[in-house]
Amino acid sequence: MSSAQGFKQAPHKLLVIPGPIEVSDEVLYANAHPSMSHVSPDFIPVFGDCIRMMRTVVDTAQGQPFLIAGSGTLGWDQVAANLIEPGENALVLHSGYFGDSFADCLETYGANVDQLKAEIGAAVSQEAIESALKAKKYKLLTFTHVDTSTAVLSNAKAIAETVRRVSPDTLVALDGVCSVASEEIHMDAWDIDIILTASQKGLGVPPGLSILVASNRAMQVFNSRKTRVTSYYGSWKKWLPIMKAYESGNPAYFATPPVNLIYAFHTSLSKITQSTPSLADRYKLHREASQRVKAAATELGLKQLPIESDFAANGMTALYYPEGLGAADILPRLVKKGIVVAGGLHTAIKDKYFRIGHMGITAVEESRGDVETVIKALKEALAEART
Ligand SMILES: Cc1ncc(COP(=O)(O)O)c(C=O)c1O
Repeated sequence: MSSAQGFKQAPHKLLVIPGPIEVSDEVLYANAHPSMSHVSPDFIPVFGDCIRMMRTVVDTAQGQPFLIAGSGTLGWDQVAANLIEPGENALVLHSGYFGDSFADCLETYGANVDQLKAEIGAAVSQEAIESALKAKKYKLLTFTHVDTSTAVLSNAKAIAETVRRVSPDTLVALDGVCSVASEEIHMDAWDIDIILTASQKGLGVPPGLSILVASNRAMQVFNSRKTRVTSYYGSWKKWLPIMKAYESGNPAYFATPPVNLIYAFHTSLSKITQSTPSLADRYKLHREASQRVKAAATELGLKQLPIESDFAANGMTALYYPEGLGAADILPRLVKKGIVVAGGLHTAIKDKYFRIGHMGITAVEESRGDVETVIKALKEALAEART
């Protein structure tokens, strides 16, 4: 088959975990591109386009994208290895499981980490951030835009405003693994220094690509390091010339990029940035899909994990099991109906709730009917479990 037309992926269960997500036939087909040299004149502009389109996705004119084979976790390593020098202070805002992991990663590279922990279902308050920043000087503040373990959405704009007002030099890093392309992000307007993400969630591509965009401020901090970068594979000293070469149309090599995945990424980014729906409409469609899932859950008597709607993500929903029921009552019944959701992840309440993802084509391509399929299956599974 030499074109995506006519290519149809095998029938499968609907994947509605909060990532990896359903991938379109077009993107999967692009991943099946014939093998190419990573320095060939045909491939170089494809990589260059991906760099430029990532700027559009996070709404930055100046940010420096890094596209590196790896998963979302590699973004944490990049931040820690390139921006932190051993013994420097970092403040991690914790709204779930992924705060602990980011903190652990920063400590691995020698950072002194303090965590500000919100209660389960909430994001850290601006007051708490302000007093922490007044009490101690931090080189870096990190937060999880959407914590995938809790479905809690943090207010990125407000966090960055607080940092700039109270501690203007502190770098602000946004973990956007579960938010990029599903939650609104304006990197330049909000003055965010790092946005890190991965291919397998809102960006609608199979897993395997770590994507990070660094601000001018972050690159200046990186360039004025006094000590050596503490990673080899994750070093921006190695990757910056490669990104610049690809963007300007020239071959360069440090470590082999995931060539086929870049073709798939190019197909998805082209759709996201250059066709309908627009990025703004995409965010709206995610909000609407989310509202449909959340309203149906409320009607079924299921309580959300986020304690206020302001804290609720638009790309996923986390729901407590009803009184007397658990994972074994609901999840296998959904699987039988062809629906794969995720169990709990937050260690303190792992067995008490489950998670539904509604990102990418599941939210945006309404004609697929994914959201309605999930709601119907959930209704039936609950009715069966309750009898
Ligand atoms: C918010 C968040 N950050 C980081 C990660 C780590 O990404 P990966 O599993 O791709 O390494 C995840 C994974 O789901 C995540 O949800």
